[in-house]
Amino acid sequence: MSKAIKLVSPNFSDLLTPNIEIGKFPDGDSHVRIPQLAECRGKEVIVFHRLYPKQNTALVALLLILDSLKQEKAKVTVAAPYLPYARQDKKKLDGEVASAHTVCNLIARAGCKKFVTFDCHFLNQEGLTTFGELSIENISMGHDLIEYAKTIFGDGPFEIIGPDAGANYLVEKRGGKAMKKVRKEYEDGRIDYRHIETLDGEFEVKGKNVLLLDDMISTGNTMIRALEKLAEAGAKRICCAAIHGLFLYNCLDKIRKFSDCIFATDTIENSQAAVSIKDKLLALGA
Ligand code: R5P
Repeated sequence: MSKAIKLVSPNFSDLLTPNIEIGKFPDGDSHVRIPQLAECRGKEVIVFHRLYPKQNTALVALLLILDSLKQEKAKVTVAAPYLPYARQDKKKLDGEVASAHTVCNLIARAGCKKFVTFDCHFLNQEGLTTFGELSIENISMGHDLIEYAKTIFGDGPFEIIGPDAGANYLVEKRGGKAMKKVRKEYEDGRIDYRHIETLDGEFEVKGKNVLLLDDMISTGNTMIRALEKLAEAGAKRICCAAIHGLFLYNCLDKIRKFSDCIFATDTIENSQAAVSIKDKLLALGA
């Protein structure tokens, strides 16, 4: 991979130097230009491109990049730290699209030989795997977030709790426990969100510091429910951390009311990014 040609999208400019141009025509169509395209012929290429925010536009841009490289017969790895649609890997309703499969298949069919991502929601483990037609390398930032928490708690002891069973793989092998979350069914007329019905777990946190660690904070509802439980159980200081910080609907303000600190990685650009994926990107040959 070290000899691969690196193509960097403008939406990675906080971490790497872009060399692809992505813009928009007046009607909103995406316009992509890869000045080094001819050099990529038959070569190994790694494309660094974020797929969030504006995931639909970002996905189309990626497909345009991949198809151009396919025509050049390049062998392409994509590094996209956050995979959108990853929470839609199962069907709950008749006729519902399992979008995670569709998105992965589209990326594979457009010519991606390997997709490198971080803490992909439906995988729950690190390493190489195949999902649909896509070959995925999943890297975890869980250890890095826990190391950062040590600097906040001043090297004193702290419990690690996951607010959801999906966070099991992040917390269990570090002696932590995950809560269990049950969502309601879709409400009539509102099929795009399933509210949380219950969220609870068995833990002993009275008088203890706690790191509440999840793969992502989206609406923040999961964190807030978990924070309430920890406060009821008498936790001392609580820090919230997530790999992917989407922080929708001003949920940061609400989370701050119940917690002592909030931090995330920079898989997505966000105001709470305290731990960087940059070294792991450099290890890929960035
Ligand atoms: C569970 O499915 C995930 O691990 C997260 O707990 C969830 O996606 C967070 O979403 P929100 O912030 O909207 O509760």
